[in-house]
This record gives sequence, C-alpha cells and structure tokens, in this order.
Amino acid sequence: MRIAIGSDHAGFFLKENIKLYLTKEGYEAEDFGTDSPSSCDYPDYAKKVADAVACGLSKFGILICGTGIGMSIVANKTRGIRAALCSSSETASLARSHNHANVLCFSARFLSEEEAKQIVSTFLTTPEEEGRHRRRVDKIEA
Ligand code: RB5
Repeated sequence: MRIAIGSDHAGFFLKENIKLYLTKEGYEAEDFGTDSPSSCDYPDYAKKVADAVACGLSKFGILICGTGIGMSIVANKTRGIRAALCSSSETASLARSHNHANVLCFSARFLSEEEAKQIVSTFLTTPEEEGRHRRRVDKIEA
C-alpha cells in the first residue's frame, strides 16, 4: 500500500523516522518533502500530499508539522480529502472508522516518536464503518 508523506521543518526528523517505520511495516512511503530541517512553509507540502491522495496515487497521506494544525487546515481544502489531526491511537481509530479520514496529521512537538508510530499503525489498519457513518461522510461533499 502506498502512503504519501510530508512535513515542514518542524516535522522533518519525525517524518524521516516514520518513513523508516512505514518501510519496515511493508508500506511504500512516497516522500513529498521537506528534505531538511531548514525553515519552510507547511502549505507547500500539505498540498502535494493531499493531491497525491485525491488523485488516487496514494491510498493515504501522512502530514507532520509542529502542531499538525496547519497541515490539517491546508489538506482539507483539497476536494476528496478528509484530513484528521490525531493525538492518540483512540482518535486515529475513530478518524478512520467514523470519519473515513484519508489523511493523518499529527504534531511533531507534542508527541513522542513511539506515540506517533502507534497513531500511524492504528490509522493505517482501522477499517471504515458503514451504515450511519457512511451516510454522514456522504453528507460532507455534495
Ligand atoms: C512552524 O514553526 C509551525 O508553525 C508549523 O510547524 C505548524 O505547527 C503550523 O501549523
């Protein structure tokens, strides 16, 4: 399964580690940058990852910045993207099962690497629930 991943400078080191983790777990990580801890603008990377997911090149996207907030705001501007800012395995699970999120955003500053890996693992393995949750998701976009 192909996963698009991106970060700004604040998320750079965590992105590199999450990339290794994805590969170890058998996922194909496509890295949309940034490529160094030098200061950069999070919207540039959020748009690239959101586009890769929206056009079907990647099944899911992962976006990391200082808080995860900027990434989620930008990614949700792209049609077809449901980006969820998650801070725990529990919220990652619900983002998938109830909201059918296709982009995971999280903070590099307020999570440990271990917590981030748990969130990623849960997000990528939790299925979407049908029924009332599908009905609600269908109402998000006309
Ligand atoms: C960068 O300092 C910081 O503003 C950015 O990583 C992110 O947290 C924005 O939402």
